[in-house]
Amino acid sequence: MAQTIGIGMCGGIAAYKIADLVSKLKKHDFDVIVMMTEAAARFITPLTLQTLSGREVLTDLWTESREWKVQHVGVAEQLDLLVIAPATANFIAKMAHGLADDLLSTVVLANTAPVLVVPSMNTNMFENPAVQDNIQSLLRRGYHFMDPDSGLLACGVTGKGRLPEVDDILKHILALLKPRQDLAGRKILINAGSTCEDIDPVRFITNRSTGKMGYALARTAAARGAEVVLVSGPTHLEIPSGVEFISVRSARDMCAAMLQHQPGCDIIIGAAAVGDFRPATPAEQKIKKNEDGSGRITIDLAQNPDILKELGKKKEPGCIMIGFAAETENVLENALAKLAAKNLDLIVANDVSMEGAGFACDTNICTLISSRTDIRPMPLISKDDVAEAILNRAAELLL
Ligand code: C5P
Repeated sequence: MAQTIGIGMCGGIAAYKIADLVSKLKKHDFDVIVMMTEAAARFITPLTLQTLSGREVLTDLWTESREWKVQHVGVAEQLDLLVIAPATANFIAKMAHGLADDLLSTVVLANTAPVLVVPSMNTNMFENPAVQDNIQSLLRRGYHFMDPDSGLLACGVTGKGRLPEVDDILKHILALLKPRQDLAGRKILINAGSTCEDIDPVRFITNRSTGKMGYALARTAAARGAEVVLVSGPTHLEIPSGVEFISVRSARDMCAAMLQHQPGCDIIIGAAAVGDFRPATPAEQKIKKNEDGSGRITIDLAQNPDILKELGKKKEPGCIMIGFAAETENVLENALAKLAAKNLDLIVANDVSMEGAGFACDTNICTLISSRTDIRPMPLISKDDVAEAILNRAAELLL
């Protein structure tokens, strides 16, 4: 289930930036409940936030809610994190003194989730001892604060008081949220990286995969409580903590390790770029070149097993199998063909010719496809976020 973030907006000119924050939180699959003070609604319309968050925006303590019997208590109970942004001097004072005279301040008092306060105001107001004392008192109670940025403020003054960049607020939010333990008790088998096929004792055939996507999946799944087995070809990446790590070189070794760990798995993910061919008979000694430059050799290649196809043949009931389809053309059709051929439940398709997608970068542009009628494109996001989205979809398919 998605985590719920409450966004409490106060009346400051930076309120318009929160529209972007809400949009980004939605792209991260969070459920977002926006609450606005009366003053906030003078800077940006609740309709904008309602459209972006996809749910009712709460502004008034006295309006009957369709969702909750006692609105402020019901909302507070649902929150995994409450973010007050922009936080004005007035609202910080209200929080510090426990005032509860509008919807947002009552939610703050009823809330037991962590609170992140993001102040934004004129420099002198921010530095005023009254405001600073209130901040100190909230810090002592365990509230989290972000320091305002410095720069030209809307009031014309240059100094401290700007709302931090939306991406920085987002990072803070992600860091504060405890990873869900929604995959606790699940066994997940993942392969990652490239494979190496020996030509002779010193040379081998490999590919450009760095293993970043598979490692992000292993790290994220472990953080969400899963028991993870990571079967990896050679990479330069740090082994994620809390996973059982099996190092392999060739596609056949990888296949054997995957088959060995297949029994009892809830989710199997083939993120490795498995070499489809290997030298049929690797030379026992280093192959020598001709000193006169006339050398010419032919390497006879034999086909490797298709690991996912092998696992697919032995698929256990209830196990969700996920593969990747890195394509340069006809992405959808090729991905659907692989979904069927490998007996998969989900295929993560991407056009590797697009900038920001595919090998060796930290981002990806993927589409999650579980059937011809269930195609979910995603924007350019980090591989960590792609990993979260894949695991969210896998968790849905497990139900
Ligand atoms: O058929 P193609 O190589 O495009 O399929 C990609 C998907 O199949 C990836 O998930 C990859 O890990 C998996 N695969 C495999 N064994 C192979 C080739 C690909 O498991 N020999």
